[in-house]
Amino acid sequence: MKVVNHKIVLAARPSGLPVPSDFRTVEETLSLTGERQILIRHEVLGLAPAARLRMGAETDSYAAPMAIGETVYGQAVGRIVGSSHPGFQEGDWVMAMGGSWQRYSLSDGERVFKVDVDLAPPAVWLGLLGSSGLAAWTGLRQIGHPRPGETVVVSAATGAVGSSAAQLAKAWHCDVVGIAGGPRKCLHATEFLGLRACVDYRHPDFPESLAAACPNGVDVYFDNVGGKVRDAVWPQLNQNARVVVCGLISEYNTAGRREPSPPWFDVLVKQLTVRGFLLTDQHLSRRAEFVEEVGELYKKGCLRVQEDASRGLGRVPEAFIAMLRGGNLGKTVVYLDD
Ligand SMILES: NC(=O)c1ccc[n+]([C@@H]2O[C@H](COP(=O)([O-])OP(=O)(O)OC[C@H]3O[C@@H](n4cnc5c(N)ncnc54)[C@H](OP(=O)(O)O)[C@@H]3O)[C@@H](O)[C@H]2O)c1
Repeated sequence: MKVVNHKIVLAARPSGLPVPSDFRTVEETLSLTGERQILIRHEVLGLAPAARLRMGAETDSYAAPMAIGETVYGQAVGRIVGSSHPGFQEGDWVMAMGGSWQRYSLSDGERVFKVDVDLAPPAVWLGLLGSSGLAAWTGLRQIGHPRPGETVVVSAATGAVGSSAAQLAKAWHCDVVGIAGGPRKCLHATEFLGLRACVDYRHPDFPESLAAACPNGVDVYFDNVGGKVRDAVWPQLNQNARVVVCGLISEYNTAGRREPSPPWFDVLVKQLTVRGFLLTDQHLSRRAEFVEEVGELYKKGCLRVQEDASRGLGRVPEAFIAMLRGGNLGKTVVYLDD
């Protein structure tokens, strides 16, 4: 089987926030060429800030820089339209972690997972039940260890990872406070996600408002952004608090700049745990356990899903740039059936 694929490639390395001319659409023909291959027709793409890190030339980032002309890294959910792989059949719904910004992808099946679209619609397998939810679950389960009644603070709380982490902590009976940009997002965090409070980091009184929202201090901080948001949370950390370093999005557009360390004296005297993590194959090996636990909570209606959706491959760069600027509410996805 032969298909005409359209893909979005990196045309230039962005300087600061990407602009549409940093991307270009390319057409190609794809077909199965050997054994153990699958051809996937993507129905929906999931956009994530990690792609921005790969667009830079920095080699000290966690992700290797992508080459000019390379298809932009991203995840996709779609159906298999051709298979010479014994593990996959035509018609299977799958989530391809390296699906990238394109209509079709050809894969050897590595990091491709079958998904149950009867349990949840395709886009949910990119957000809450996809890598965003897995990052939230992994960070909380392996580093945060939140206990019932503890105060858990989550930054970028209305985003894909943040809304998953905040809702999981709430489902585990923690007292959850979100941090988000602007009153609309803060209202969403309390009204839609059900968090006890949410503080707007763009407001000039942010540090004081955060302190007021956490009268018992902070036991777990799930950090998605770093920078001045982390600086405001830091003095509120309790003895033996755990800081889950999941992401530093406030730095992703500032090439070559690395933030100063937080006060290490506090790490000593408060006996803090500060630990970063990246989703690796080791975490992916626990994906079935994650899907079982979080899928059950989703089925029971304990976890809600918000997606920020656009339509058409051509809209991907725009949606991506909007996400980096904080324009998204929930997981940023692009449906391809335009
Ligand atoms: N460790 C891992 O394996 C792993 C896996 C997945 C994701 N991540 C990380 O998790 C974080 C969230 O990713 P996501 O996919 O869920 O994205 P997201 O939260 O859905 O979208 C990004 C959000 O970041 C916030 N933001 C952007 N610039 C900011 C700034 N300068 N200061 C504060 N907030 C800013 C914006 O929300 P506001 O409007 O609220 O500012 C924006 O909506 C990222 O840092 C990402 O790299 C890590």
